[in-house]
Amino acid sequence: MVLNMTRTIAQVENRSSTDTFRLDVLTGLCQPQKVTPAKHLYDEYGSQLFDQITELEEYYPSRTETAIMREHGAEMARQIGPGCLLIEYGSGNSAKTRVLLDHLSEPAGYVPIDISEEHLHNSAEILGNEYPGLRIFPIATDFTSNVELPEIDVPVRRNVVYFPGSTIGNFKPDTARKLLASIAELAGKDGALLLGVDLQKSVDVLEAAYNDARGVTAAFTLNMLTRINRELDADFDLANFEHIAIYNHERHCVELFIVSRRDQTVRVGNCQFHFAAGERILTERSHKYSLAGFAELARSAGFDVAGVWMDENQLFSVQYLTV
Ligand code: TRP
Repeated sequence: MVLNMTRTIAQVENRSSTDTFRLDVLTGLCQPQKVTPAKHLYDEYGSQLFDQITELEEYYPSRTETAIMREHGAEMARQIGPGCLLIEYGSGNSAKTRVLLDHLSEPAGYVPIDISEEHLHNSAEILGNEYPGLRIFPIATDFTSNVELPEIDVPVRRNVVYFPGSTIGNFKPDTARKLLASIAELAGKDGALLLGVDLQKSVDVLEAAYNDARGVTAAFTLNMLTRINRELDADFDLANFEHIAIYNHERHCVELFIVSRRDQTVRVGNCQFHFAAGERILTERSHKYSLAGFAELARSAGFDVAGVWMDENQLFSVQYLTV
């Protein structure tokens, strides 16, 4: 009886996550500018491909941000102070977090949050072995939904949200402001946010970073179509689509598209979608900021900019924002 109940609950939960995916996909494909929901890029295979992206020669953000963390991690940890609860948004494999953890003085705990459950739990287990004394409370959720902090059995001096990877740039400025405001609320009084923010730079460098020569980024975005085929009973023919990345000068963002190579009709469940030859599906945007532009956004969300660290070429910034 108990077994049956467990299975039923699992099935219901499973169905509801597929329902969310289906609704997000169908809604996106019905827009005049077709879009696919970027957060659903990170299934287990997608998360693995994304880890590969972070190691690409062309993809300067990861390596630059990691170097900034190595160079200035001690100073960041000093600003944060002892006894913090470190909450990470989109933790993935927690690569950069290790640099911070090495410097933090007696953290009260670590709360990695990631949408990819399997990836999250594997990473948390590995991290737990490397940092035996650290209390880890993984939460498998979409950080744009309501996050509830766990009860910690030691005093917490301050909540610090760590949000690296310039994922904040994947939201439109208006939505980014709302997300920052919700982080300020979660962090609370004396709370802070340590945030990776990618900066404006030459278009060639930007476009190459999102369209690498080995085609890993293309495989990553096209995996969305594979996932739709598998989970939503669709018939996208992958050979008829390709990946491109174009910088949008008005919006200051790289736009990633899947382009239809020909005039075609695709079925997703019971729905049909027509694609003209050359028609684009928007898969993701990555906004690039100036320091002044970002400071204004942060202030409008209730933060003060208390520290900014950059590499010597000013490609990328890590910013310490206080509530
Ligand atoms: N936050 C990352 C960025 O904007 C996400 C990212 C990197 C990404 N490469 C991508 C998202 C390719 C979709 C496709 O840099």
